[in-house]
Amino acid sequence: MEIKNAKYEISSAKVSQCPDSNVPEYAFIGRSNVGKSSLINMLTKSRGLAKTSQKPGKTLLINHFRINNGEFYIVDLPGYGYAARGKAQREEFKEMIESYILYREQMVLLFLLIDIRHEPQKIDLQFLEWLGENGVPFAIVFTKSDKLGPMAAQTKVEHYKKVLLEHWEELPPIFVTSAEKSTGRDDLLDYIERINTE
Ligand code: GTP
Ligand code: MG
Repeated sequence: MEIKNAKYEISSAKVSQCPDSNVPEYAFIGRSNVGKSSLINMLTKSRGLAKTSQKPGKTLLINHFRINNGEFYIVDLPGYGYAARGKAQREEFKEMIESYILYREQMVLLFLLIDIRHEPQKIDLQFLEWLGENGVPFAIVFTKSDKLGPMAAQTKVEHYKKVLLEHWEELPPIFVTSAEKSTGRDDLLDYIERINTE
């Protein structure tokens, strides 16, 4: 699939403010700074579409981007686990993210982003567990693969799979990406297309 056009539509603080439509949505979640907004810009080939920053905590709202004149939406979510935020604010974000994931019926798939360089983190494994408990359909996307050589990247992915199989019977779909080098772009877009035309 090719993305012919991508247009920012709306930023919402609540699920009730999200677009009133039956267009399917693909949402991107993960720790603050993992590269959600950068990945969306890479997929849509639009540099400034989603706002990115070197500092964590950039995306603060639920952002809808309309793709190919309404074939589907890509949704950029705020990250979780940003320690510099106070506990009350972290809870507020958690609530926003969780209610979007649980109650947004238009969301057909959630991409959970994980920085390929890191050892499996408790916060991500707990989030995965929560997705499982709630029956949320998801795929895992490793980000920033340009920061490792191809062999090291593969080793990290294999290690992560092993850890996942300690908790899960089956592995989810897994993608390896780099927003810098556009790695994984075709695979991800083809996967979205396959689900979207099912
Ligand atoms: P929040 O909105 O704060 O939750 O962050 P985010 O997950 O949207 O991350 P964002 O896309 O803003 O990127 C965070 C930082 O990581 C920026 O400095 C990006 O340039 C960098 N980054 C993102 N993806 C990649 C990548 O694939 N490779 C490299 N080298 N850097 C990346
Ligand atoms: Mg962001």
